[in-house]
Amino acid sequence: MKLKIAVLPGDGIGLEVTAEAVRVLNTVAETYDHEFEFKEYLVGGRAIKEFGTPLPRATLDACLTSNAVLLGAVGAPEYDSLIQSERPEAGLLTLRRALGAYANLRPVISYESLADCSPLRAEVVSGASILIVRELLGGLYFGEPRGINRGASSQVAFNTMRYTVEEIERVARVAFTAALARRRRVTSVDKANVLETSQLWRETVTRVALDYPEVTLDHLYVDACAMHLVMNPRRFDVLLTENLFGDILSDEAAVITGSLGMLASASIGGGTDLYEPVHGSAPDIAGQGIANPLGAIASAALLLRYTARLEQEARDVEEAMRRVLDAGYRTRDLDRGHSELISGTAEIGTQVLESLAEILDMRHAYHAV
Ligand code: IPM
Ligand code: MG
Repeated sequence: MKLKIAVLPGDGIGLEVTAEAVRVLNTVAETYDHEFEFKEYLVGGRAIKEFGTPLPRATLDACLTSNAVLLGAVGAPEYDSLIQSERPEAGLLTLRRALGAYANLRPVISYESLADCSPLRAEVVSGASILIVRELLGGLYFGEPRGINRGASSQVAFNTMRYTVEEIERVARVAFTAALARRRRVTSVDKANVLETSQLWRETVTRVALDYPEVTLDHLYVDACAMHLVMNPRRFDVLLTENLFGDILSDEAAVITGSLGMLASASIGGGTDLYEPVHGSAPDIAGQGIANPLGAIASAALLLRYTARLEQEARDVEEAMRRVLDAGYRTRDLDRGHSELISGTAEIGTQVLESLAEILDMRHAYHAV
């Protein structure tokens, strides 16, 4: 297996966590004789500083001609006052759109050994496993017209929430297909009691569901969903929703895992797939070597699963993560005073590499028998 991977560490803790994800992918490549070629490019705040734009042409071209993009995080407080289209975040949004990655998969897994790291009670989160499927290229994020009119006496700002049937249908198919390999349940989340986009969303998802008779579909309004997520997370299998609702609900769902630092994501459906942890650039802890790399490492596992189609390797990385957590290693974001093994970013990365090596050795020994 040969893969060209564009690495975009971005800003803040993005640099620290992607370094660990690349280390993990390198170990997988060496052990299984895959050829992964990594090249680094600038995006976000550091790209603005160097090139005056959050998504330089060279970065975009490299992403478009790679098999996958591994991104860290974008955003820096020094650019907060810029207009929307010039901010670091605009680089990420333009990249998502240029790649055509319309389905954003965010697995939310409550690891057994982290059940008491959640601010929610362990008996509530224990065993929860949700796959959030967030529409990534439509809705308020990209709808036109948008803008701010600044008059002398009054100012008005506006955004447009817009969805076509085709946009809804294609992401719904990703959700139903994913459900077939899971517990066969899709919960579609909308605001159909108020929004026309949600009415069309609900109609379309209901129609697509007819093609998947083995999957049970139910619908929730987004406000009720926000409550059910923290009240009874185990009721969810696949959660399908539009762009902004998905952005908000996935940060909320992170509470189930214990930390936003745990969440990984895969953006698929376009020419090149994009992998990134869900967390941001966390300028408050950047450069200190204390960020949780597991969201980035889990994103690397998703890259192995969806782009490389190396399911065994993906599972091995996930199993290695599980063992490290079971052994009690945690970054600070997961510290609830239960573990003595509070570790830094690189140390967690090293622990994952060591566990991975053990798992791989076992597999080789097994095959040799
Ligand atoms: C996410 C992030 C991004 C989003 C930002 C950084 C533009 O919050 O991936 O969830 O809103 O999509
Ligand atoms: Mg977000």
